[in-house]
This record gives sequence, C-alpha cells and structure tokens, in this order.
Amino acid sequence: MSASTLPDVETTIAGLRSRLDAARAAGSTVALVPTMGSLHEGHLALVEHAREVADVVIVSVFVNPMQFGPTEDFERYPRDLEADRATLSGHGVDAVFAPGADEMYPSGPVATRVSAGNLGGMHEGRSRAGHFDGVLTVVAKLLNIAQPTIAVFGEKDAQQVFLVQRMVRDLDMRTRIDVVETVRADDGLALSSRNAYLDERYRRAARTIPDALEAAESAADRGIDAVIAAAQGVLMGSNEVELDYFALVRPDTFQSIDDDYHGPARALIAARVGTTRLIDTTLLHLA
Ligand code: PAF
Repeated sequence: MSASTLPDVETTIAGLRSRLDAARAAGSTVALVPTMGSLHEGHLALVEHAREVADVVIVSVFVNPMQFGPTEDFERYPRDLEADRATLSGHGVDAVFAPGADEMYPSGPVATRVSAGNLGGMHEGRSRAGHFDGVLTVVAKLLNIAQPTIAVFGEKDAQQVFLVQRMVRDLDMRTRIDVVETVRADDGLALSSRNAYLDERYRRAARTIPDALEAAESAADRGIDAVIAAAQGVLMGSNEVELDYFALVRPDTFQSIDDDYHGPARALIAARVGTTRLIDTTLLHLA
C-alpha cells in the first residue's frame, strides 16, 4: 500500500478475517487499533505506535451501542467514515474495519457478555452503569475477530485500559495490550472525539480539567489531602465545569488509595462541561 492512499475498508467479519489470515500466512504480525471513529491526532499516535510494533495495521471504527447508556450520546456521536479514512491516509494503515451494528450484533445486543466485575461499577463505571461490560464485550469480539498480535489503546481512558488488560490476562487471550500516552492540545486539553461538542466558551472552561491535574501533580509531594485540595481548588474556579468525580487510585489495582498511602497513584477526573462529559488522568507520586 502506498503511504498516501486511502486505507481499504472491510465491513464484514469474513472479509477482515480472510485478509488477516493471508497476511499471517505470509508471516506478518497484525496490530489492531480499536476506535469509535471521529479520528484525531490522539488516534494517529496509536496508529503510529501500531506501525512501529507490527507489519499490518488495522483500525476498527465502530460506535458500539452496548457501551452507551440510554441517556448518553450514542445518537449524536460523530460518524463520518470518509473523513476518518482521509485522516488515516498517509499513516500506513492497511485497512479500516467498519462493521455495521448488524454485522457485530446480528441478533441485537448479545446475551453473552464480559463482566468488568466490581471495578466496572466504580469511578467511571459508577456514573455510566454497564459501560465497561459493553466495552469489554466489544473489545473481546474485536480481538476474536482480528486475532491481533498487539492491540493499542490510549492512556486517557485509563480505567478502560486497566480492565482490558485484566480481561486479556483473566481469559488467557493471546493479544498483547500496548498503551500510548495521552496527546494534548496546546491548551493542555486531552484530545477526545467529544471535544468537538464544545463551543469556544466551553472549550475555554474545559482547560480547568488538565489545570486541576497539573495542580494535583504539583501538590503530590505534600500528600493526599494537599492533592485533593489543589485539584478541587482549580475545579471550583469555573462555574461551567461540574465535577463528576476526582479519584486517586493505585495504578496496579485501580482501588482507591488509603489516607496513609505513599507511592505511585493515578489521578482520575470526570467532569461535565455544558452538556459534554470529559475524562482525563495523570500519574503522580504521593510523598
Ligand atoms: O475507547 C474507545 O474508543 C472505545 O471504548 C473502544 C475501545 C473502541 C470500544 O468500543
């Protein structure tokens, strides 16, 4: 494939499998980048990594109905396959796997699901009931369909990454999960497809989220109370940002940390800016 051509599109499971079987028979390794489309530089960083670690790169584009709650933005989630192909053009992607819901769920939502367990109901999962079961179920399906050597995910969705890694371990899946650092805009906001919902005023307000994480990082050498106070202080400075949760968890277990904990911690933020819900995260070291 020449670097500047649009990637091919596979819309069927059979089509993708036969392409990848042929690639594997020729000795190629495969990397999968699972996405819901509306691709931006953050996704391109995942693609770049995929290209470095495998011979064949597949980007899946599927807005998975199973991971959206009834009041969430499934209907309005941006969908433009041609724009996504154009974004990927020149980035060495071999094919986009863009199945319809009929292809992924021919009999409607599947009865067999992967459960995210207790952690699936905490932090992000507390605000989005059933979300992580939907994510794990579709990721398991995508890994079974493509059987990639490596699948690449973004650090911004830290709880998703933790749960996918645990699923792969728990269910003895053969795919290696690689994680790529969050890409940020010049103003610090983590790139996200949902940033497209923000008008200028809300976009300005949304910067409070990375600012709060930065404040948390700066306070880390003064301990957990100082971190929480620093983050909350920044978040309370904006009337347009409604905090859903700020949490500090152990990176190795994703459990909330005790008051006397010292060591590496992951800070998680979810907040609503106008009608847009955004998440962000950073690693810090609690003294
Ligand atoms: O992170 C996402 O875009 C989605 O949750 C994923 C992993 C593609 C599953 O639908």
